[in-house]
Amino acid sequence: MKSKNTFIVTGGAGFIGSNFILKVIKDPNNFVINYDLLTYAGNLNNLKSIENNQNYFFVKGDIGDSSKLNGLFDKFKPNFVVNFAAETHVDRSILNPKNFLDTNILGLHCLLNISTNYFKSHKKLFKFLNISTDEVYGSLNTNELPFNENNQFKPNSPYSASKASGDHLVRSYNKTFGLPTLTSNCSNNYGPMQFPEKLIPLVIINYLNNKKIPVYGDGKNIRDWLYVEDHIDALQMILSKGEIGDTYNIGGENEFENLHIIKIICDYLDNHFDKNESSFVRLVNFVKDREGHDFRYAIDSSKINKKLGWKAKVAFNKGIDKTIKWYLNNNDWLNQVQSRSYQKWINQNYL
Ligand code: NAD
Ligand code: DAU
Repeated sequence: MKSKNTFIVTGGAGFIGSNFILKVIKDPNNFVINYDLLTYAGNLNNLKSIENNQNYFFVKGDIGDSSKLNGLFDKFKPNFVVNFAAETHVDRSILNPKNFLDTNILGLHCLLNISTNYFKSHKKLFKFLNISTDEVYGSLNTNELPFNENNQFKPNSPYSASKASGDHLVRSYNKTFGLPTLTSNCSNNYGPMQFPEKLIPLVIINYLNNKKIPVYGDGKNIRDWLYVEDHIDALQMILSKGEIGDTYNIGGENEFENLHIIKIICDYLDNHFDKNESSFVRLVNFVKDREGHDFRYAIDSSKINKKLGWKAKVAFNKGIDKTIKWYLNNNDWLNQVQSRSYQKWINQNYL
């Protein structure tokens, strides 16, 4: 019998982590331990469809908790650690940077240490993939070339600074201690199960609740949007074929101004609900700009394309169609993430 690939997926109850687990678990040869602190952003309902799967196991815990992690590594003897666990929202990092340093730097450091000790004593197939962001490179003007892997790190928010620090730590654990690491730096993801603090689900939810849509500054900032399933495909390729110690940029080649994204979603929903008026005009509310707001992100994905053969497949019009339909069809999920009782339920059941 073929032995199983054992994954410890940290932050697997969040948006990208849960999409990753739902894909990986489809292969019966994979065994997945989801290790997640269940912060406000972690949601086990994302994984309801597999909660009884014999190849899936959930453990509530902090990536900064070395004794819990040691027990986990000893018990499950993983081949892969895929780290999605992070504080991820730029606005929250402006309000409270400390949480970001605690998880994205100190927590990651703890996970790297445990992984290194484990790797050195077990000497079996082992890879550590850290999921990072294009925001480590800073911000581009309209005419500048997209970020490639050789761009200098110039993070502008406490979030991106904490992620950049994490990327440096990962690199150092490879160079100094020989930990087999891989790093990915990805652009803005969208798709099912994204927490509605991020632009796309926030616009959908505000539309459905007939609430104003806050647009920071003049709404002309540009992001490169990647459908989450394309991101997962890229991560699987990096895990199987990526060069140890290397980093890979992942982008969707869908650069749009925020106002354009908001209009697409409002028009889609107006059409869906047979409205004659323009909700875009009615709901858009220009508000104070985000401090240090990065103007533009754009990604040069040619390295992952040439070396690993990955390219984004989902066109933006298809991806946004699937995303909006998912939110329209998952009212319970939406109600639950908007209710405070969810956090109470987590505390009762998983503390
Ligand atoms: P998310 O906020 O939806 O989920 C983060 C998850 O991490 C949650 O389940 C949360 O409970 C968990 N978590 C937080 N702190 C933890 C801790 N100390 N220990 C254990 N678990 C903890 O985030 P996401 O959007 O899915 O992002 C996942 C990763 O991808 C992050 O590292 C993020 O920086 C990166 N990333 C995200 C995007 C994006 O557009 N969403 C783009 C590029 C990179
Ligand atoms: O680029 C990758 C990054 O994308 C990830 O590393 C982050 O974890 C993820 O949160 C995302 O960061 P952004 O700051 O780009 O995403 P956000 O959805 O918060 O904002 C997208 C754009 O929309 C940005 O220009 C700010 C603007 N915005 C956002 C919100 C929430 C608004 O105008 N109004 C809003 O209410």
